[in-house]
Amino acid sequence: MKEIGKIADGATESIASVILYQGVESWVSSEELVLVENGARTPYSKVLGVLRKGLGRNDFLNTSYYKPELAYVKHGGEPSGAREVFSFSVLVIGDVSQPGAVSINRRIISPGSKVSVFDTEDPLAKYLAPTAKLPRNLMAGLDRHGNWAIPADASYIPYHVGVYGTTGSGKSWLAKNVLIPFYLQNGYSVLVLDWSGADYAQELRKNSIPLSEISMGPNAVFSYMSERTSGFFSNRNLEAVMEELCDDWENLAKMGSEKAFDQIQKSLNAVNTNRQDYQMAFNVAKRRFLRRLTPQALEPLMGKKPIQELLNDLSKSRLIVIDMSGFRSDVKLSFFLALADALYSKMSEGEDMSTSIIIDEAPQYSPFKPEGLQVQATDSLRDLAALGRKHKLNLTLLSQGIAGDIGVNAAIRRNLNTSFYGRLHPLDVVGQGGAKEWLEPYGITPEYMLNLQAGQFYFAGLMNPSFMPLLLYFEPNDELAQLAEQLREGGKEKEVHRAGR
Ligand SMILES: Nc1ncnc2c1ncn2[C@@H]1O[C@H](COP(=O)(O)OP(=O)(O)OP(=O)(O)O)[C@@H](O)[C@H]1O
Ligand SMILES: [Mg+2]
Repeated sequence: MKEIGKIADGATESIASVILYQGVESWVSSEELVLVENGARTPYSKVLGVLRKGLGRNDFLNTSYYKPELAYVKHGGEPSGAREVFSFSVLVIGDVSQPGAVSINRRIISPGSKVSVFDTEDPLAKYLAPTAKLPRNLMAGLDRHGNWAIPADASYIPYHVGVYGTTGSGKSWLAKNVLIPFYLQNGYSVLVLDWSGADYAQELRKNSIPLSEISMGPNAVFSYMSERTSGFFSNRNLEAVMEELCDDWENLAKMGSEKAFDQIQKSLNAVNTNRQDYQMAFNVAKRRFLRRLTPQALEPLMGKKPIQELLNDLSKSRLIVIDMSGFRSDVKLSFFLALADALYSKMSEGEDMSTSIIIDEAPQYSPFKPEGLQVQATDSLRDLAALGRKHKLNLTLLSQGIAGDIGVNAAIRRNLNTSFYGRLHPLDVVGQGGAKEWLEPYGITPEYMLNLQAGQFYFAGLMNPSFMPLLLYFEPNDELAQLAEQLREGGKEKEVHRAGR
């Protein structure tokens, strides 16, 4: 520990400011953790805090009124340091007087109290980790202290996770390097929905399966067709015939797309409505339908592996990436709906899932204003989130924005109780429901969020044992590739369990 200064006038229980000793400003920086020995003369408690919002003042250099020193500086003179004061805000994490855990600090911080910064001793392991119900380390360290692993409370994994940051802020890498290994190490199986196929499937080739191999099931095929034909061109007869055909989709899929198309055509040609006007309308709709749902358009629906089987595979191999590249959004969403259905019914039967679903590009499923299949996807996500908490199902949503046009739908966002905020888009920082509202109470200003580098994220919410968001940085590593390899070789949980760095 290194003593850096004393608490200034105007401190409260939750925030104080520290006047730095001469020269300390040259080496101490924001986001460092500090210990306040509370009590100016006789310390009576210990308070853990984090430095934010640095401030440098020099009364001589105040430009709001004229004084001789200003004229001197104006002509190139050296300003006097006599009235120079450097300070930081100390955002209180909690009272750490009792060994073992952090509790809420309810005592006023006494001006004049001594403040020291942690340099070698790891305060996270000592104070924060024991506060968690199920403490486990993330494979990420406190920023600039890579060897102080960030503790997380694994019991909150089913309370869902949101990862936010502009493009290139390192969201997908955070998932690969930190979150997926964390879930695996805590006994969860992980299913990654790789929207573009570029972020996970290539790296984890041996664990990935193309969407084209998966059978969508009757409901998803029916919604896909409905979506592509604007509700079967509003023709009830066409809808009814197709609904029946979809019920037997498994057999049609076995035939391949050309034969399935022939079969559909045959069934539609055999329809007789017994009323001339109905028949005419049906014929028009039928022709349009066959022009739209060509064998080529049916191709994505020819997968053979039922979702149930996919989930069984998942519980064995523990990590599967679905490569969704090359498909239209409506196919991807239809698949998601079928997957959500399968997960939901498993949970309704009381099954414990111990599964995490990683949804990259989450606004593709559930944006600010859902349209078409996104409306159902949003409902499904909300239902999964609610039921998931009781059945160990984790949803991890990655998004370039938090709120508004580039964000995740508010109904879903409310269910994500742990958040990682990386570098944000300026619009998102200040917009309503954006990061400013979430983080400014903790001394994290918009400038902080705009200037983060790839791999730096503020970790906030239930999984963080401290209510105070902390800045983490993860070093890219190949842990996940190694874990995947071990899991494929049938490695037991014990073998894959590694401590964070
Ligand atoms: N921890 C890190 N340290 C250094 N560089 C990193 C780190 N994480 C990510 N990067 C760099 O940032 C790039 C973008 O990362 P990533 O693909 O995870 O961004 P993203 O937020 O998912 O972007 P998008 O929204 O476009 O998908 C990586 O290719 C890598 O070069
Ligand atoms: Mg990404």
